[in-house]
Parts: sequence; C-alpha cells; structure tokens
Amino acid sequence: MALVTGAALGQGRAHAIRLAAEGADVIAIDLCGAVSPTITYPAASSDDLAETARGVKASGRDVLAREVDVRDLAALQHVVADGVAQFGRLDILVANAGVLSWNRLWEMSEEQWDTVIEVNLSGTWRTIRAVLPAMIEAGNGGSIVIVSSATGIEATAGNGHYSASKHGLVGLTNALALEVGEYGIRVNSIHPYAVETPMTGLEGMSDILARHPSYLHSLSPMPLQPRNMTDPMRLAFMAPDEVSDVVTWLAGDGSATLSGSQIAVDRGQLKY
Ligand SMILES: NC(=O)c1ccc[n+]([C@@H]2O[C@H](COP(=O)([O-])OP(=O)(O)OC[C@H]3O[C@@H](n4cnc5c(N)ncnc54)[C@H](O)[C@@H]3O)[C@@H](O)[C@H]2O)c1
Repeated sequence: MALVTGAALGQGRAHAIRLAAEGADVIAIDLCGAVSPTITYPAASSDDLAETARGVKASGRDVLAREVDVRDLAALQHVVADGVAQFGRLDILVANAGVLSWNRLWEMSEEQWDTVIEVNLSGTWRTIRAVLPAMIEAGNGGSIVIVSSATGIEATAGNGHYSASKHGLVGLTNALALEVGEYGIRVNSIHPYAVETPMTGLEGMSDILARHPSYLHSLSPMPLQPRNMTDPMRLAFMAPDEVSDVVTWLAGDGSATLSGSQIAVDRGQLKY
C-alpha cells in the first residue's frame, strides 16, 4: 500500500494513479482548499481528490481518499491508522504536497515565509512522523520518496523561502535514510524542474520577472529536448506522468540499492 500526499492534482494525482496501475492500494490525501492567502494559484477541490480516487479504482486498486492538511499531525496519524486497518500494511510513501509563492526574501510577509516552510518542510516531517511507525511495525521494509525540487539543489531568484524549504528536504531525506536503513526502509529525494501543473501557472512568476527581469537567468530551458520541440528557447514543461516514471522506479525493487540519493528529474537543467 502507498500513501501519497497532495494527491488531488498535478504530480500527486499522477503518482497515485500510476502506483495503483503498478499494483498498490493507495491512501490519497490532500488539503482540498486554500492553503493561505499568500498562495495565489488555484487550489485543489474535493472534486479533484474524488477524480484521483476514480483514477486509482479504474486501475483496479482500492483507495482511501481523505481531506487532510499535512500541517496537522493528528489527522495524518488518524488516516494512517485507518489505511493500515483497511489495507493491512504500508510500503510506500510519496511525500509530495507542496506550495510555491514568489517574492524577494526581505520583502515577503511572515505568513508567506511560514506557509511555505510549514507545508513543504515541516509538513513533510509530520507526514514521515505519522507514517514511519506503521512502516517499521509492518516489518517489510519500504520506500519513501521525498518530493523536493531543482531548487532544493540550486537556487532560483524570487522564491528563496521555497528553495530553503526544498534544500531542507535534502537534509531530512539523508538523515532519515541513515536512521531507517536498519529496518530495510529506503529514503530518496527527487528534484523536478518545470512540471506542467497548477503550481507553475505563469501569473505569480511573470509578476516578479516583470519587476526583476534578470531573475529569468535562473529559469533556463532544459538541455535535453523532447523530440517534438521546435523552439529551443521555449521553457518546455514536463508532464506529471514523466515524474511518475521516476517515482515508481524509486518505489520498486529496481532501485533497491538506492537510499539517501538525490535524483534530478530535470532533463539536464541542473548541469547549467
Ligand atoms: N510543478 C513543478 O514544476 C515542480 C517542480 C519541482 C518540484 N515540485 C514539487 O512537486 C510537488 C507537487 O507539486 P505540483 O507541481 O503537482 O503542484 P500542484 O499545486 O498541482 O499540487 C500540489 C498539491 O498539494 C496539495 N497541498 C498543498 N498544501 C497542502 C497541505 N498543507 N496539505 C495537503 N495537501 C496540500 C494541493 O492541494 C495540491 O493538490 C510539490 O512539492 C512541488 O513543490 C513541483
């Protein structure tokens, strides 16, 4: 059984449905609502999470879909207990829920800073805190995939709080990999760059780029171009499904020797 956070939309939905297609029952959780007034792109809805649940079922697996905020440890522990009661054991965690906003570090509000750190970094820790006792108890090992970002390895100007949260996830991933190795549990982080989802809507980004055009330099096109791409200067986005390819590989035995690794999912962009 797999637990996926931020599963109502975007990459989380793609991961939940793909893991089901690979044979996992799924606990799919999402806030399904506005995270904070500082997050300005459209929020996921209950209907979006229901759509994910339909996708999991269409893949022939069972699903426990629930509206849970990853900032709420008690709610996370509750859904894990319910999932274990329903499906028997927990093998895979994809800690994917995250939010993004744009501003310069010395100009953002405390709420803008706190929201990104609370969801992306502390929310991921709370998810791990809720999941690991059940995974260890099951005694079958497991695989934890932490969704960081290219900005968890390099920085992009205009979202330093996001970059700090995603760099924090690298430390979390690697320390956890050391701690849970003795239980046969693997922990790796993935670092996507530019995936086509609501988060990467251009409004928030275009505002800061209009004010600070030089920030465009940290948003370079990806060196590896898809075969159908005609304009090499276009910032082509990846599809969520392409990230799911990597997530399912990390979740499965094909990556059995990897733990404490940072896997770029970036078509080579991090090498600039
Ligand atoms: N889109 C990209 O280009 C990109 C690149 C690198 C990393 N990422 C990361 O990938 C992950 C998925 O993002 P996405 O691109 O699919 O964005 P998205 O906005 O489409 O999906 C994020 C999901 O997380 C949910 N969520 C947000 N806060 C939550 C909370 N407190 N509790 C529970 N659920 C919550 C949202 O409701 C939404 O369904 C995020 O961690 C993001 O930072 C995205």
